[in-house]
Amino acid sequence: MGQEINLLENYPKAKRDVTLRGQEKTESDRSIARQFDKDFFDGDRKHGYGGFSYHPRFWTPVIPSFISHYNLTSTSKILDVGCAKGFMLYDFEKQLPGSILKGIDISSYAIENAIESMTPHVHVANATNLPFEKDSFDLVISINTVHNLEKNELKKALLEIERVSHGNSFITVDAYHNEEEKKLMDAWNLTAKTIMHVDEWKAFFKEIGYTGDYYWFIP
Ligand SMILES: C[S@@+](CC[C@H](N)C(=O)[O-])C[C@H]1O[C@@H](n2cnc3c(N)ncnc32)[C@H](O)[C@@H]1O
Repeated sequence: MGQEINLLENYPKAKRDVTLRGQEKTESDRSIARQFDKDFFDGDRKHGYGGFSYHPRFWTPVIPSFISHYNLTSTSKILDVGCAKGFMLYDFEKQLPGSILKGIDISSYAIENAIESMTPHVHVANATNLPFEKDSFDLVISINTVHNLEKNELKKALLEIERVSHGNSFITVDAYHNEEEKKLMDAWNLTAKTIMHVDEWKAFFKEIGYTGDYYWFIP
């Protein structure tokens, strides 16, 4: 069975006023964000990132945690599901030259605007139908992506991660431990369609047969 483990502990913490952002949000903002088009990445802050550009401070300090936890080497094969513009893969390339890196994302905009050296390695695809053979990767990572699906589609995505990984996988999903965190999450959430209590997530993983590792995104 997978392990609950915070491999993103070195990811920089964002400072945001989640409650205020919740008040400002409308269903129209959510529906624009959920298209994962230019507005979500490089549009107004109320529709998503408000500008999604590479900066080494995000993934550079996180990659060593993945390398040491999963004993990755320069021959490892790694897939990022929901890779957006390929920024995490780019930092993998720098720290693990020679490794085989692939990324998929539902967003044509993100893939078309991927960081240049990753463009040969990233493709438009849905997490529910990964365009790879069984057991293709040593590690499949999916950060803050599969919770954007309804539960039945989410199940398909997790089983796809299981299928294409012959070794390890690691995902992060929107979750809460208590009512206070749930309130903050509801205020913060723009795109997620499945947000659960951490115990519900664990029961769900067990029920559907997801055996990889996991951690939570809690605002
Ligand atoms: C919050 S962003 C996270 C991006 C990146 N993983 C990161 O942590 O910086 C969520 C990403 O999931 C992608 N996405 C949403 N639904 C998806 C799906 N069904 N299949 C693949 N990618 C999806 C979006 O286009 C977006 O790039």
